[in-house]
Amino acid sequence: MILVTGGAGFIGANFVLDWLAQSDEPVINLDKLTYAGNPETLQSLQGDTRHTLVQGDIGDVALVSQLLARYQPRAVVNFAAESHVDRSIHGPGEFIQTNIVGTFNLLESVRGYWQNLPQENRDGGVAPTKNRFRFLHVSTDEVYGSLKKDDPAFTETSHIEPNSPYSASKAASDHLVRAWHHTYGLPVLTTNCSNNYGPYHFPEKLIPLMIVNALAGKALPVYGDGQQIRDWLYVKDHCSAIRRVLEAGRLGEVYNVGGWNEKANIDIVHTVCALLDELRPRADGKPYKDQITYVTDRPGHDRRYAIDARKLEAELGWKPAETFESGIRKTVQWYLDNPDWVAHVQSGAYREWVQKQYA
Ligand code: NAD
Ligand code: DAU
Repeated sequence: MILVTGGAGFIGANFVLDWLAQSDEPVINLDKLTYAGNPETLQSLQGDTRHTLVQGDIGDVALVSQLLARYQPRAVVNFAAESHVDRSIHGPGEFIQTNIVGTFNLLESVRGYWQNLPQENRDGGVAPTKNRFRFLHVSTDEVYGSLKKDDPAFTETSHIEPNSPYSASKAASDHLVRAWHHTYGLPVLTTNCSNNYGPYHFPEKLIPLMIVNALAGKALPVYGDGQQIRDWLYVKDHCSAIRRVLEAGRLGEVYNVGGWNEKANIDIVHTVCALLDELRPRADGKPYKDQITYVTDRPGHDRRYAIDARKLEAELGWKPAETFESGIRKTVQWYLDNPDWVAHVQSGAYREWVQKQYA
């Protein structure tokens, strides 16, 4: 049994779906079901006794302690967070609350549970023990700040220099996780990953927003000069990295996760447009790139991220399965094949369903 937090969001849900496709080990999925948490993504698991979705906050110590005591997980994988940089600029409060205070409360609940686990499992069974327990914290490359054009990629020892309220809150949570290991001995692992893309990505983020706006005949808003660089990783490759770190990562260590796929934003947008031209041409025969509109830049916009994932590759033998070309094609196709999912998240219709289900 593992406890996943934020498992109704983009990466968490992909992780839960992949986990249960590959193993019968049950998952307790604790998610607050904010605007970004959509249980529809997990619809294929309805009636599957290996998956239990619980609506709740990682910061709710009573609830989390009760879940830990009841289900006795051997690991906690913490995806839960406010994740969108633009939202953090307009309203940082929720980011402080969930990403910092929430992580602190979660760590305290987990510490209370872990401290009372037996040291060893004498009957050789699968019950969790103090030694085998793991807390894996899912974090971001944004904690390292911004790179100049020719700077080497971020390694695990790069300075922590977050620039947005989002990245500062994630950096704070990473520090708390580190401190709970050094001070209390909690068996933690941290992963810092680059930009993910793939199915079930909320259409406020660059790639899904461009696909969805293009199909709706809307403008494709590119911030500033569009020359900002991100490293892109297909979400299922991030999930496989997390599984590998959970399985074999060294306690207290940080592992960078990335795809060696640095791309300028404008090139990403052109790639999406070209794929749509091929797969769903515009009715008027014009190219989707005609919809590109340069707009005011994001305040404090980080210029470049690049991830050096050699530690994870060399120590744990992880490798991404997708190239950017294969992953982006699958992603565009997924959005073309799933208009209902998109319509529901755009209209907020899934929120009504959540309210009925979890009232
Ligand atoms: P997301 O916004 O799609 O999903 C976040 C999920 O967390 C949602 O289901 C939401 O309901 C839930 N949640 C929010 N606050 C909560 C709370 N207080 N208690 C319980 N659940 C709560 O985010 P994502 O893109 O899937 O990111 C998941 C994690 O991965 C985050 O920690 C993020 O910082 C990290 N990360 C994301 C990326 C990326 O490119 N998306 C890259 C690296 C790291
Ligand atoms: O690097 C990992 C991070 O990637 C994660 O930690 C965050 O949770 C995730 O949201 C993502 O952050 P970014 O800010 O890089 O992602 P976003 O999709 O918001 O933007 C990607 C780039 O595209 C960024 O340089 C801003 C730009 N952009 C974004 C949007 C939404 C645009 O030019 N236009 C847009 O409309």
